[in-house]
Amino acid sequence: MTSRKLSSRSASLSPFHVMDILAQAKKLSQQGKDIYHLEIGEPDFATAEPVIEAGIEALKQQKTHYTAALGLPDLRHAIAEYYDRKFSLAIDPQRIIVTPGASGALQLALACLLDAGDNMLLADPGYPCNQNIAQVLAAEAVAIPVTAENFYQLDAKSVAQHWNSRTRAAMVATPSNPTGTVLPKTQLAALAQFVERKQGVLIVDEIYQGLVYDGDDYTALEISDECFVINSFSKYFGMTGWRIGWMVVPEFYVDAIDRIAQNIFLAAPTVSQYAALTALKKETQIILDARRDEFQQRRDFLLPALEQLGFDIAVKPQGAFYIYANCEKFTDDSFNWVKKLLHEQGVALTPGIDFGSHLANSHCRFAYTQSLEKLEQAVDKIDAFIKSN
Ligand SMILES: Cc1ncc(COP(=O)(O)O)c(C=O)c1O
Repeated sequence: MTSRKLSSRSASLSPFHVMDILAQAKKLSQQGKDIYHLEIGEPDFATAEPVIEAGIEALKQQKTHYTAALGLPDLRHAIAEYYDRKFSLAIDPQRIIVTPGASGALQLALACLLDAGDNMLLADPGYPCNQNIAQVLAAEAVAIPVTAENFYQLDAKSVAQHWNSRTRAAMVATPSNPTGTVLPKTQLAALAQFVERKQGVLIVDEIYQGLVYDGDDYTALEISDECFVINSFSKYFGMTGWRIGWMVVPEFYVDAIDRIAQNIFLAAPTVSQYAALTALKKETQIILDARRDEFQQRRDFLLPALEQLGFDIAVKPQGAFYIYANCEKFTDDSFNWVKKLLHEQGVALTPGIDFGSHLANSHCRFAYTQSLEKLEQAVDKIDAFIKSN
């Protein structure tokens, strides 16, 4: 038999436990059971019609060749205009890099900043792929436990405690996945200042920008031009499957990122780049803002409904489409509890274990990426589950 070997970096990559939940949900659905999908981290809305039309038009016009690795110049300019319109910021389009989703941006950012053996600090709980991207690069992600007191976000003090001679970067996401919390501007400013003093880089993932329901929907670029700012057309713009995002970086890094992008994926999908031009238009924004308002209505229903059932939600989520809820009143093993809930009542959630180890067994994530009507039904199902267990 041929002897096969995986690189140790790939062999030890952790899977998403929610995929397990999804597979079970699919099986139950095939058996005819109604499933309430509160585990899915993408908008339930289809891509806005004008954006789909723009994609079709691009195909008809045979826009099917590679673009420059850094993206279509028109799209880089349109993103700069977006920052101007939304935040009154003048960003040089040369600093804007179009990528295959925020995922592509995160890979480029980490490949450009981390050598093997370097480390990067991030929050636990947090978006799990970052840790794995660092691992693929033979670098290390150091997960810092974060608590409700700091809005489940890193702050300068905790980062200072963990910073060592191998640390090159710290990463935050605002609003955050899984907690939906926004990093207060003053907390981010102090963090940026500390990281700059250490000559490191602060990476700020703003993928949920546009989906902020309370307070200031700001960008880190208002605070510092030294940050790497990650963004995407996936969430607010409703284009997950188009695989298109962007990143704003200090000019110093652009040439290196250009070379990495040329080698790793050549360019972001061309059709998606043309469609993204329409996604950024003011007319499309009207459609997208109405969807944002619907997400807010869903949050405003689900949050008190869960609290009434006995979940503890320590920080009110201000954005994204997630509620990170403490379920320790019902279980000390949220993964098994989530599996049981799916089997008994058909409600699918994401267990805390998918976002780290801190707080993992006592928490689960609710994604309100379903209609209000479905959410109401799901709450009734969870109520019945709690009462019968
Ligand atoms: C915080 C965060 N960053 C990045 C991503 C990757 O998104 P995409 O590659 O679709 O832009 C996600 C996806 O859920 C996310 O939650």
